[in-house]
Amino acid sequence: MDASDPKRVIADGYDRMGEDFSVWNAARPREGRRWFLGEVLARMPEGYSVLELGCGPGSDAAALSSGRPYVGVDLSPVQLAIARRRVPNATFVVGDLASIAFRPASFDAVVAFYLFNHVPSAEVAPAFEAASVWLRPGGRLFLGGLPTTADEDRVDEWLDVPMFFAGVQGEPYGRACGMRGSRSSSRTSDTRSRNPGA
Ligand SMILES: C[S@@+](CC[C@H](N)C(=O)[O-])C[C@H]1O[C@@H](n2cnc3c(N)ncnc32)[C@H](O)[C@@H]1O
Repeated sequence: MDASDPKRVIADGYDRMGEDFSVWNAARPREGRRWFLGEVLARMPEGYSVLELGCGPGSDAAALSSGRPYVGVDLSPVQLAIARRRVPNATFVVGDLASIAFRPASFDAVVAFYLFNHVPSAEVAPAFEAASVWLRPGGRLFLGGLPTTADEDRVDEWLDVPMFFAGVQGEPYGRACGMRGSRSSSRTSDTRSRNPGA
């Protein structure tokens, strides 16, 4: 399998992984994720409407949706079935962040945890552009676990399935964050592993 159809590779891969992804995720060090989730929750008052991109099996959906309208989007129907079981009161939609449509200014926050490791380099800026349209003016974009490996976009074997990984070319995140007059701030925790969820 090559990297020419990344969405198919990703959707098939996460579908085939099923519960294995959550098992792997649960065995990772928790500090980075816990810290980031805490930072995000501290900035989202009750009632804040939240869109989570690449929500996977709903790893953070219970916390994000507690007291807030929440929509989670993911390419993998199997991961979303797990998410729905875990957080039955939240809304989950199968979709590709590159083509899904939401009304302008319909969310207070857009969140993505460990997603951009899978977003092809050429789609990073358009994804930020779309998020800025979905956010109300002054809304917040929270990104955790950005890829750090200077490399080509590629397909590697991971958790026994072929998986698409994005490489970092140039400095796409800083540029994308500067769009539409947005203000950005960033903090890093330990992001040395190139695989998602680490
Ligand atoms: C590493 S998992 C992270 C899942 C969850 N956010 C977490 O932190 O446990 C990445 C998720 O992003 C999803 N994904 C990747 N590319 C996507 C895209 N273009 N649109 C929607 N979801 C995508 C994958 O299907 C997968 O469930």
